[in-house]
Amino acid sequence: MNKLYLWGIIITIAMLGFTYLSVGTSKGGLNGDIVNMLAIAGAVALVIITVFVVIKYVRQMQTDTADGELAAESWDDIGEYKNPVPFGWAVMFLGTIVWGMWYWVVGYPVNAYSQIGEYNEDVAKHDAKFNAQYASITGDRLVEMGESVFLAECKVCHGLAADGIDGKAANLNVRVEQKTVKYVIEHGSNNHLLGTEMPMPDRNGLFNMTTGALITDAEIESVSKYVSNGMSGEGAEVFAGVCSSCHGADGMGMEYVAPSIAAFNPTLVTNVLNHGKKGAIGTMPAFKRLNDKQKEAVGAYITSLSAK
Ligand code: HEC
Ligand code: HEC
Repeated sequence: MNKLYLWGIIITIAMLGFTYLSVGTSKGGLNGDIVNMLAIAGAVALVIITVFVVIKYVRQMQTDTADGELAAESWDDIGEYKNPVPFGWAVMFLGTIVWGMWYWVVGYPVNAYSQIGEYNEDVAKHDAKFNAQYASITGDRLVEMGESVFLAECKVCHGLAADGIDGKAANLNVRVEQKTVKYVIEHGSNNHLLGTEMPMPDRNGLFNMTTGALITDAEIESVSKYVSNGMSGEGAEVFAGVCSSCHGADGMGMEYVAPSIAAFNPTLVTNVLNHGKKGAIGTMPAFKRLNDKQKEAVGAYITSLSAK
């Protein structure tokens, strides 16, 4: 018998032996379990096929001779036979080129598909359904919906009681805190609070109409107390002289001129959600992913907090 086959049989027996040692004797082992028997049968078949396929190719390397017509070129004495390209292979090769051109020119740009696009479409569809389904919700139910949005999305920064967790975020139980008023007067503000580009000038653009002079440190101190006190106490005169021309005599704001700084309203909150806000306390991220009704609802909820 050919030495190669002898080795093949020896290796096969050895591998089957190891297989048996590692699984056949273990507790539970073969035990007539049909699934285990099938797995073992598969392993035996694999071992036998592998060994004999290897033998076939080793023999071929030992005995094969090449035939056919040699090409004229030779590279470092390595020649090449002129074999025709297999037909099936050639068809697949050309087919791939044609398909590739179709894919780049027509298939991809025309039938463009992306998971992100599909996700956005699904979200838009759901939002439209949501907005339609809850369109008629108003009053207390809107505030309730807003509270649930707040608990899901906002409480991580603003806290369960919306008090801003010791200054980590804005305290939403009051319209503005004193440090925010001071900061805005010093630095100006451009957070799209009106929904438009209208900025608030900094202290170099704030004149007291009664004195005709730029706002002073003492005036900033008193007007910031007045505003953060819910528009009451001393500082009323400064407010009337410097701020009321834009924010209104009662601080409730004027459309296209300045936002309300006396109380929250759903439009103001929606603008903060659409654009985010950078200020004295830090950065509030934009929440564009909330749908219109959710923004309106959480706006109603925050408005109800400061109205108490
Ligand atoms: C020229 C018009 C104008 C005047 C005068 C003005 N403001 Fe403003 N104020 C604005 C505008 C516009 C905004 C909104 C800016 C933005 O979108 O960020 C604003 C925003 C604010 C905010 C920010 C509210 C927030 O949530 O951050 C505060 C506080 C404020 N103003 C207080 C004052 C005070 C106090 C005065 C008087 C000392 C004053 N403003 C005078 C136009 C004005
Ligand atoms: C990552 C933290 C964070 C989250 C989440 C967050 N906020 Fe804020 N928010 C802030 C910070 C910080 C400020 C203060 C910005 C400033 O004026 O310095 C703020 C400010 C605000 C203001 C403006 C207050 C003012 O006086 O002008 C509103 C309104 C507001 N947040 C509403 C919300 C709502 C509604 C949600 C949930 C949908 C929310 N926030 C989620 C951090 C957050």
